[in-house]
Amino acid sequence: MTSGSANGAGRLTAAEGLAPIEAAMRAPLDRIAIAGPGADDLRDFYGMVRYHLGWADANFAPAMMPTGKRLRPLLLLRCAIACGGDPVAAAPAAAAIELLHNFTLVHDDVQDESAYRHHRETIWHRWGAAAAINVGDALYAIAHDALYALAEPPANLSPARVLTLARDFDRMALRIVEGQHLDLSQEGEWGGGEARYLEMIAGKTAAIMDFAARAGATIAGADDATIAACGEFGLTLGLAFQIRDDMLGIWGAQGVTGKPAADDIRRRKQSLPIVALDERADDATRAALRRFYAGEPPLDEAAVAAIIGLLDRHEIADYCQSRADEYHARTRLALDQLAARGATVDGLRDYLALLEGRAH
Ligand code: IPE
Ligand code: IPE
Ligand code: MG
Ligand code: MG
Repeated sequence: MTSGSANGAGRLTAAEGLAPIEAAMRAPLDRIAIAGPGADDLRDFYGMVRYHLGWADANFAPAMMPTGKRLRPLLLLRCAIACGGDPVAAAPAAAAIELLHNFTLVHDDVQDESAYRHHRETIWHRWGAAAAINVGDALYAIAHDALYALAEPPANLSPARVLTLARDFDRMALRIVEGQHLDLSQEGEWGGGEARYLEMIAGKTAAIMDFAARAGATIAGADDATIAACGEFGLTLGLAFQIRDDMLGIWGAQGVTGKPAADDIRRRKQSLPIVALDERADDATRAALRRFYAGEPPLDEAAVAAIIGLLDRHEIADYCQSRADEYHARTRLALDQLAARGATVDGLRDYLALLEGRAH
């Protein structure tokens, strides 16, 4: 296979990968933003939407900017293909999931006060929180518009099947915002340890991957056991994904991730490295960590450096990687189950390898 992308989704052909996703994401936005009522007055509004998606510069001129990795729609398409489905028919659902993901990112950057994403200034940082809330809301609505295209050619799903998928989609969206609530309410709050952390990331991160995988299999017409195995593949991958994200957030390079390093610590997040250090360190280290976390956010650079020093001295990165490896091992088991059920799992194996090796 040739490299289909400059943004990390390598080894995917255009047919299986990014081109149909981008087209299916652009279709509802173009229909609404260009042909919709008041399009001229709303140029800046849809300009911000396009800017976030990487299709416009900060003056809203069309441009190819650094984008997200489009991992969730790729997962959906890979599961559809594994189950013998047509990726073109599944593209509206893939687009919907990426648009919904971006709704959560725009709001997440307001909530986390994150100034950079995708190597670019975030919407709230450039245009204010009120504008960012509105842009996020637009992405949420456009995501649904994209999903309903499943009832039209080429997918031609029955209205009843689209409705069932749409209800699952909304339930998944609720799982994400529940997870976001837990994430925000746990800032600087101790107790609950890894079990509480896993509950939080199961909502904010893994629910959408679980859904993406199941939706791909569902649209392909897979049986219930195969859909469930795809769900396990997505769920375990999602848990490992957030653990890796927490690690990259501390030890990754901003030039690669496109997000400032150690922002999670500045915000006093209960990311896995922090939870693990608190649970595993001696009493003196735990007391030092909690003292630093008792400061007002954002924590200053001296506190951030001291906390990273504690994490490094206790080899917490190795521990977190071992936890990610455990979830990836479960992902591999789900893959074996899918293969045993007759699915063509080469694309999913490739996808797992892509995520295991990611640096951003
Ligand atoms: C970021 O996800 C949000 C998390 C759940 C950690 P990604 O790292 O997949 O973000 P994009 O889509 O590439 O921007
Ligand atoms: C993002 O989680 C999860 C959602 C947007 C639902 P984080 O806040 O941990 O992710 P980043 O680091 O900002 O991408
Ligand atoms: Mg964030
Ligand atoms: Mg967050």
